[in-house]
Amino acid sequence: MSLRGPGGERSRWRWLRGLRARLALAISVILVAALGTAFVATYRGTGTQVRNQIDEDLRTDAQLVDSRLPLLRAKPGEIAEAAEEYLDERALFPLSARLFMVRIRGAGNISNLPDLSTAEGDPRLDRDVAGPRRESDESRALRTADLGFSTVRVNDEPLRLYFVQVTRGGRAVAEIGVGESAASVARAQSGVARTFLVAGTVTLLAAIALGFAFATRLSRPLRRMAGTAARVSAGDLSQRIGSTGPQDEVRVLADAFDRMLDRLENAFARQRGFVADASHELRTPLTVIRGQLEVLARQTDVTPDDVRHVDEVVRTEVVRMERLVEDLLLLARADEGELVRPAPLDLAPFVTELFDALTLTADRTFELSDVPPGRLLADEDRIAQVVRNLARNAVEHTGPGGLVRLTVRSLGQGRLEFALEDDGPGIPEEQRDRVFDRFHRTDTARARRTGGAGLGLAIARAIVEAHGGRIYADSSPEGGARVAFALPGFRAAGKRAAKEQAAKS
Ligand SMILES: Nc1ncnc2c1ncn2[C@@H]1O[C@H](COP(=O)(O)OP(=O)(O)O)[C@@H](O)[C@H]1O
Ligand SMILES: [Mg+2]
Repeated sequence: MSLRGPGGERSRWRWLRGLRARLALAISVILVAALGTAFVATYRGTGTQVRNQIDEDLRTDAQLVDSRLPLLRAKPGEIAEAAEEYLDERALFPLSARLFMVRIRGAGNISNLPDLSTAEGDPRLDRDVAGPRRESDESRALRTADLGFSTVRVNDEPLRLYFVQVTRGGRAVAEIGVGESAASVARAQSGVARTFLVAGTVTLLAAIALGFAFATRLSRPLRRMAGTAARVSAGDLSQRIGSTGPQDEVRVLADAFDRMLDRLENAFARQRGFVADASHELRTPLTVIRGQLEVLARQTDVTPDDVRHVDEVVRTEVVRMERLVEDLLLLARADEGELVRPAPLDLAPFVTELFDALTLTADRTFELSDVPPGRLLADEDRIAQVVRNLARNAVEHTGPGGLVRLTVRSLGQGRLEFALEDDGPGIPEEQRDRVFDRFHRTDTARARRTGGAGLGLAIARAIVEAHGGRIYADSSPEGGARVAFALPGFRAAGKRAAKEQAAKS
């Protein structure tokens, strides 16, 4: 139970780790970074621009005042007079500065701030002496400012000041000072900030929503795929994604996934069929054995002949089952890919020995072609098994005295072909591929209920393919069956021998 809490917690927040949330987050981070950078640049730029404008105005104003002062060797008194005059006429000039001050050496200050102005000849209110009246903050700032530009705070408002020296005849005679509120800088900047806040929030929200929607669209096939995969792993192999979107990477993945499921479903179906067939084939002899034993048990007086008969039947069925189980094990090993261990073998003695053993198995007319001399890289026992399977089929499909012919020939390029031909009914053309399937028997073979369970050719194919070869069926010159297989890894013994062989055939 204690596991449930964290599990529930985890699944509740799981969407946060999903593609959509991560994409939305990534978009937000990028956008916030971009907006932040743009904001800082714009904020600073606006401040600088407005401040430059103020400075420019102040400089112009200071020059204007300077131009109104006497040009040559003016006495302090004359300068003060000119400055007063200027102040009085000020309304006539396009002066934008709010504060104005001229400090004149030896003649006091002239200013539009009344408490800063010191009348000529009034020594009490000379430049650096604080007056008896309470000096305003503005006045003190103006009075103590250095030459050049400076910014001071007065009554919680920034004040931009500009002081410049007035020189006449190479001598500094006065200092002109102008001042202007710099609150417009902060105002412009806060306007920028407001705009960014509103536009940024809207953009960010829109981007997150768009990103989320986009990621939802993008990840839909992925989520569908996950759902399909879950249902498949729950056992339903018929599920498919069946994507219809644009031909992008996700679609490619979905299609590959569907194809994989097709193959898986086929493989599972084949496997199921195989198990069902195998069970069926095993049940038949078991039923026969049980029937025989039941008959025996029911008999009151059992003769030795009865026992012998039952023993014979049971033994036959047991042998049949043993063969079947052996075949199944062999096919299982073929599926695991460890069926054959090839080694070089001398072809002629191998084929002759094999053929001689075949001739003893049934009353048929056995024929053997010339065998090309050379060595074959193959698993001797397994190849012998294939040949025996094919020969047994030929025998099963012919009557006494029927033809069973084994031919072995080189196909060139290191390929060697073994073929078994007979003069039986042959294999119908439409069956020639399917006879190699596991448990496949043609209808006539099925009806006879002789022969094997339909694994002989399947085993032959497994062994041949494990050697890298190919097996195929067609018809013999006599109109019967011809089942042949070609193997790689043949080395003819010397050119002359090979030529002789070619001349003969
Ligand atoms: N030489 C042949 N002539 C005619 N039919 C054949 C021959 N060899 C194989 N077949 C057909 O191919 C089927 C599969 O053969 P096989 O795998 O050996 O199974 P089985 O011999 O157990 O029936 C046979 O049932 C038969 O119908
Ligand atoms: Mg067979």
